Amino acid sequence: MSATSRKSRKLTPMDIQGRKSGDKIVCLTAYTTPMARLVDEACDLVLVGDSVGMVLHGLPSTVGVTMEMMILHGQAVARGLDHACMVVDMPFGSCEESPEMAFRNAARLMTETGAQAVKLEGGRHMADTVRFLVDRGIPVVGHVGLTPQAVNALGGYKVQGRGADGDRVAADAAALADAGAFAVVLEKLPAELGARITAEIPVPTIGIGAGPDCDGQVLVVDDMLGLFSDFQPKFVRRYAELGQDVARAVAAYAADVRQGVFPGPEHSFGTGA
Ligand code: KIV
Repeated sequence: MSATSRKSRKLTPMDIQGRKSGDKIVCLTAYTTPMARLVDEACDLVLVGDSVGMVLHGLPSTVGVTMEMMILHGQAVARGLDHACMVVDMPFGSCEESPEMAFRNAARLMTETGAQAVKLEGGRHMADTVRFLVDRGIPVVGHVGLTPQAVNALGGYKVQGRGADGDRVAADAAALADAGAFAVVLEKLPAELGARITAEIPVPTIGIGAGPDCDGQVLVVDDMLGLFSDFQPKFVRRYAELGQDVARAVAAYAADVRQGVFPGPEHSFGTGA
């Protein structure tokens, strides 16, 4: 399919669900309009992840991310997307208390940003909530394995599902699919477990550090561009070193200003009409 025809149609959650065992689902995060415009054509799904809190706001984890932050960044991303299906993360505290509360917050995220779906973290204990949302018209992406909002309970950003614990994560993913999630993110799992869950559940899996056999892949866009360097997870491949480019450009600008060589005559205005 040509880039033009790819862009001409907005992908829906049903399109993504229909890609089970088909063409790989390409997913990146975005948090701003310019980045959304840059990733739209190549991506099938764009996630306004709550990683925005760490990546753009300097928070130590995603736990402090609010509904207001997700709505503001969701609105910005929506302005930049013509093609990719847009999913917004439900932040910590917005969906765990009850299905009703989750519905109210998910509905806000959808109506105020124009997102086509929400993503929420958690396994079997969130299945009733997923069913409640799906039954009321809100498409949901699940997220199991390493769930960063639970970093305090998990004791860090560790690989999940090793050894016998794999059955627990597989049961979590199956429960979400059974509850109606149209895709499930698998984060930081042994590759074999990523493959096993992908074979076992009827909806697409989208891996991040879960091996090559998932139905799709997602990365934090700033990680793969080399823009976010607080830490680099093993599962990230850097496709650019934009952070270094930015530092070089800023140093060159500073030197030009200090030496009086910028702005030059070509950047200056005359007095004539
Ligand atoms: O918040 C996020 O960016 C995410 C993904 C990277 C899966 O949840």
